[in-house]
Amino acid sequence: MQTLPGKQIILGVTGGIAAYKAAELLRRLRDEGADVRVVMTQSATEFVTPLTFQALSGHPVHTDLLDTEAEAAMGHIELARWADAILVAPATANFIARLAQGIANDLLSTLCLASTAPLAVAPAMNHVMWSDSSTQANIKLIRERNLHVFGPAFGDQACGETGEGRLLEVPQLVDQLASLFSNELLSNTRILMTAGPTYEAIDPVRFIGNHSSGRMGFAIAQAAIEAGACVTLIAGPVSLATPDKVTRIDVKSAAEMHQAVQSELENCDIFISTAAVADYSPVEVQARKIKKSSDSFSLQLKRNPDILAEVAATGQYFTVGFAAETEQLQDNAQHKLAAKKLDMIAANQVATDADSGFNSEYNALDVYWADGYLQLERARKTELARKLIELIAEHYKTRH
Ligand code: PMT
Repeated sequence: MQTLPGKQIILGVTGGIAAYKAAELLRRLRDEGADVRVVMTQSATEFVTPLTFQALSGHPVHTDLLDTEAEAAMGHIELARWADAILVAPATANFIARLAQGIANDLLSTLCLASTAPLAVAPAMNHVMWSDSSTQANIKLIRERNLHVFGPAFGDQACGETGEGRLLEVPQLVDQLASLFSNELLSNTRILMTAGPTYEAIDPVRFIGNHSSGRMGFAIAQAAIEAGACVTLIAGPVSLATPDKVTRIDVKSAAEMHQAVQSELENCDIFISTAAVADYSPVEVQARKIKKSSDSFSLQLKRNPDILAEVAATGQYFTVGFAAETEQLQDNAQHKLAAKKLDMIAANQVATDADSGFNSEYNALDVYWADGYLQLERARKTELARKLIELIAEHYKTRH
């Protein structure tokens, strides 16, 4: 079982003798399912060549803040936003000092300042340097800012001495990194979710569908697992890998999704409806492909059951809906919150030209509940999903 499936990790490598261990760390992170981009300081390149990390990560290695070619491929701000977490291993005393003082004088230190992702450093240095009062003061400072410090370990050092200052072993670094993504916010809670589009068949080759990719729902399922929940995900036709530990039920049409929700419902505490369910489906599905005959063609549609409204009407589950809107986001979302008797609704714009909403890695959510509101600004869906799960956990606990 992988511990970092789909996680986007920046591995920062600074210039110490333990830099060679970062190559093994990179391999292990990839084995655990992470997508890793490596950023090296100039002095790290004196110990290990960028080519080693390029070959092991499958991506070009970033070394220079002012490299126009690298900036054109993925600029440092984009890289900072891309990361789900940054791990600097090994982190030298010099790098820790710069981090503590907020000095951004190379690519790696700039990225650390420019990213809101969790940031961890794994110190590796001579034990006297580690115990020096300035290093200890810098470590205290970065801990106070909620940065994570992994290690160091006690043991034999490259200089021939013994003491505290060794880089943690690779499996320990991987475990500690994985633990950044888990919390117990929803332990002992069962979540039933829907995600993706539905396809309403017209004939054997055509259907009515929409642009939902399922990414938002799958990201929420992943975040819910990280929060300790037990998750059943009813997915419309999407081509996404199932997050680890999630029970997935595949459906095609709104009717199939409706039926699956009904049969799974009694095993849940929270229902999250991310799916873009078709409101209407053809009255009749033709058994053979419809041939073109006249200049115009009409299709008679019937209303599909509103799955979310039905679940909310039972009054037994904490229900979270989504509202996909092209206009009047707030009014429409608040109307749906009240009309469907939901505990919470997350509204998103879906008809802008911006890279957001349907079929994008990004989204922005306005979340409403009976007497409150929170705006989650445009971010990667994985990041938004974690924030939404935190909000759901907080309100669910208040209600119980
Ligand atoms: O899948 P992605 O590409 O990542 O895109 C994410 C998303 C834009 C699809 C997602 O964030 C989103 O907005 N999902 C809800 C889309 C939608 O159908 O919104 P709606 O306003 O039409 O429906 C309101 C709510 O009722 C939704 O929670 C919907 O799941 C639910 N519904 C709607 C109709 C129906 N027959 N049954 C339902 O349960």
